[in-house]
Amino acid sequence: MSHAHISVDNQIGPVGAVVSGVDLSQPLAREVIQEIHSAWLQHHVLFFRDQDLSPTAQARFASYFGELDQYPFMQPVDESAFVIPIIKEADATMNFGGDWHTDTSYKAYPPKATLLYAVEVPQEGGDTLFADATAAYAALSPAMRAALESWQGIYSPKLVHGQSGDYKSVAAKQNLGDAYGGNAEFAESEVEHPLIRTHEETGNKSIYCSKPHTINIKGWTRDESLAIFRFLTKHLTKDEFVTRFKWQPGSLAMWDNRCMFHNALNDYQGHRRHMHRVIVKGERPQ
Ligand code: SIN
Repeated sequence: MSHAHISVDNQIGPVGAVVSGVDLSQPLAREVIQEIHSAWLQHHVLFFRDQDLSPTAQARFASYFGELDQYPFMQPVDESAFVIPIIKEADATMNFGGDWHTDTSYKAYPPKATLLYAVEVPQEGGDTLFADATAAYAALSPAMRAALESWQGIYSPKLVHGQSGDYKSVAAKQNLGDAYGGNAEFAESEVEHPLIRTHEETGNKSIYCSKPHTINIKGWTRDESLAIFRFLTKHLTKDEFVTRFKWQPGSLAMWDNRCMFHNALNDYQGHRRHMHRVIVKGERPQ
């Protein structure tokens, strides 16, 4: 598809495209926003390089695509209630988002978009992997697709943020205080969503359940469900569905959280990584 206001290059990998010719720190005209929106629906994740974004500018750009949402488990930066800092210090061991997932799928209305901006990144490592859950779904057999579509999942933050969740125990050990908590009741909550969701804007179906956020398939045990979740994760993370993004300071990734999985690689021990993240409110998965 050709664009009048932006350049879109999809050579980066099986999914996603690099967009150039736009300065995201400035207010954007409606035609430019429309072009970015349509490229985003087509490519699922857009990458912008060499941007200079304050938290206010990042939040303004995100707000062109819908109402901004607040992340329940982390304090925002002082400048904007909608921007959270994702920081891994050089001496920390655990990173944020270091497993295949879609963001906060345990909410009744999970975000439709995530915009992640690189403030400081290691010279080597700290890349993020993005997997196309629509193409992965389409590659399953018709019988498997039909079975998956008939099942509901029980989604919850508790595996990660709950009392016995991974972040809670690591945060305590690393003196991160309440950095990963602060919303104890919600951290134990559960919500029902389909395993496969239909995109509200494109009508495409995508794998949606994930190991860290889906406790079980409704009516199944966790062990039984994990067999399916592990299979789906292995399937959707095959090379043919995955693009690896190498960050530079000033890079921004904007992904469609309804149809993309991602995984932040934790391979830069001894170096600091500092990102700013904004999420845009989405619909209830159907
Ligand atoms: C996230 O899971 O939203 C963070 C991903 C990253 O830091 O690369």
